[in-house]
Amino acid sequence: MKKLYFGSNLKMYKTIKETTDYLTSLADLTGDISREEMELFIIPSYTSLERACAFVDQHLIRLGAQNMCWEEQGQFTGEISPLMLQEAGVKLVMIGHSERRHVFRETDEEENKKVNCALEHGFTALLCIGETAEDKKYAAGPEVLRMQLKKGLFGIDAAGADRIWVAYEPVWSIGVNGTPATADYAERMHQEIKRCLRELFPETGEQIPVLYGGSVNPGNAKELIVQPSIDGLFVGRAAWQADKFNELIRSAKKAAGR
Ligand code: PGA
Repeated sequence: MKKLYFGSNLKMYKTIKETTDYLTSLADLTGDISREEMELFIIPSYTSLERACAFVDQHLIRLGAQNMCWEEQGQFTGEISPLMLQEAGVKLVMIGHSERRHVFRETDEEENKKVNCALEHGFTALLCIGETAEDKKYAAGPEVLRMQLKKGLFGIDAAGADRIWVAYEPVWSIGVNGTPATADYAERMHQEIKRCLRELFPETGEQIPVLYGGSVNPGNAKELIVQPSIDGLFVGRAAWQADKFNELIRSAKKAAGR
C-alpha cells in the first residue's frame, strides 16, 4: 500500500512557543496513525527549528527547513548553511517554494545548487515546482514543470533520487488570493511530473513522492488525495491549527481508503 504524505510549511508565522505548542498538539492528535502508512512533516521558521527538533520525535513529525544555502560557509549574509541545519537536527530541506522563486527571485540554477548540496549533506530535499497563471493561460504548464524538474534535479544520480520529494504547487493556487487547482487538472500535471521523473531516473523515478499544494482545504482534500498520481498534500493555511490539520488528514486518509 503506498504511503500518503501530509505536510505543512508554516512560512513566516508562529513564534517559537507557538510552534512547539502546535507540534506537541499535532503529535498527540495524530499519534495513533501508523507512520508506516503516513509521512507527516512540518516546516517551521528557522528560529523555531532547534527547539522544535529537541521537542518532537521526528518519527512522528519530520521537521524541515524552509530554505538553505548551497555553501557550507562564507560571505552569504542572511543565508543558512547545511551545517547549521544539521546541527539543529533537521532532516528535510524545502527548496524553491513559490514565494522563494517569485518574491525573492530565485532561479532554477540556484535551486539546483541547493538540491545537490542538500543531498550531499544527507537531507531529504523537497523541491517545489509550479507554473504561473500566465504559463497556464498559454497551456505551457507541462513544459514549465519539465524545465523546473530537469534543471532543478540536474546532476542527481539514482541514489540521490531516493531522497527527493516533489511538491507541485501552481503559483496561481497558493495563498489568500489563490484558486485551488481542480482535482482533474492537478492529476494531469502530476502525471506529467511523474513521466518526467521516470525519464530522469528510469529505476527510481516512479518511487519519488509527488505532493499537491495550493489552497488545499477540508473541502477539496478528499478529491485531491484519491487521484492516482497524487501521493500527498502540502497544506498551508488549512494546516496551521493542529486540530484542523488532524481532521483534514483523517478525512483524506479515509477517502483514500485507509
Ligand atoms: P496555501 O499555501 O495552502 O495557504 O495556499 C500553500 C503553500 O504555499 O505551500
